[in-house]
Amino acid sequence: MSLEESKKLVLEKNLRHVAFIMDGNGRWAKKKGMPREYGHTVGAKTFKNVITYCYECGIECVTVYAFSTENWKRSEKEVSALMKLFSAYIDSAYEDLSKNNIRIYFIGDRARLPQALIKRMGELEEKTAAGKRILNIALNYGARDEILHAVNTLLQKGATSVDEETFSKALYTADSPDPDLVVRTAGEQRLSNFLLWQAAYSEFYYTDTLWPDMGKEQLDKAFAAFGGRVRRYGAVVE
Ligand code: IPE
Ligand code: IPE
Ligand code: MG
Repeated sequence: MSLEESKKLVLEKNLRHVAFIMDGNGRWAKKKGMPREYGHTVGAKTFKNVITYCYECGIECVTVYAFSTENWKRSEKEVSALMKLFSAYIDSAYEDLSKNNIRIYFIGDRARLPQALIKRMGELEEKTAAGKRILNIALNYGARDEILHAVNTLLQKGATSVDEETFSKALYTADSPDPDLVVRTAGEQRLSNFLLWQAAYSEFYYTDTLWPDMGKEQLDKAFAAFGGRVRRYGAVVE
């Protein structure tokens, strides 16, 4: 498939939201005899290329899993290298986002992130608020944490009973449609606490490609696979 074919597929199959579990940076670096942090540096460049291609194909909403609530278990060296990369991205992203009409959201629990980062995350969200496309960056994100956060918010507001729509609107992804496609790289076939509620009817695509090696060709393949899926939502489709 080519860009033109992917564009057509995105439109015809109504592929609005793609979510990525960007996995395999560490293994990619190890294969090259390099420290894990190097894998994250290259992975950050891949992230930019991947989202650019997705929007080029006409996808309205992209979500990337950048740091989970469990990733704090990693070494202080690795965590701080990741925080530096997030910080550098936040400082340099505005021009590209505004040029491409993208609104950024950071989804996850901010409280545990560095203060300086929290402030700039909020500023970037405000500055891009007029964007028509969506980029969700999951940073200190855990789906169970998100669900509990939503439950507690609703309780504090005095709710005694909620419906699906109200609940969805209390999640960090309130303004995004549910993901149509969840892509996980590096061979692992699990959610790792990502979008538990939102992915109830998502299609899943797994590739052995390690995240830093993801590119247009792999994305075309993922979109083509999505194009071949029949989404039944529990009904019988003849
Ligand atoms: C994904 O790559 C990036 C983050 C979780 C931040 P990993 O760092 O998990 O890479 P592997 O799975 O160890 O290869
Ligand atoms: C999931 O990857 C989290 C991110 C991609 C940010 P992990 O590498 O942390 O997942 P596990 O530990 O293999 O489940
Ligand atoms: Mg991993």
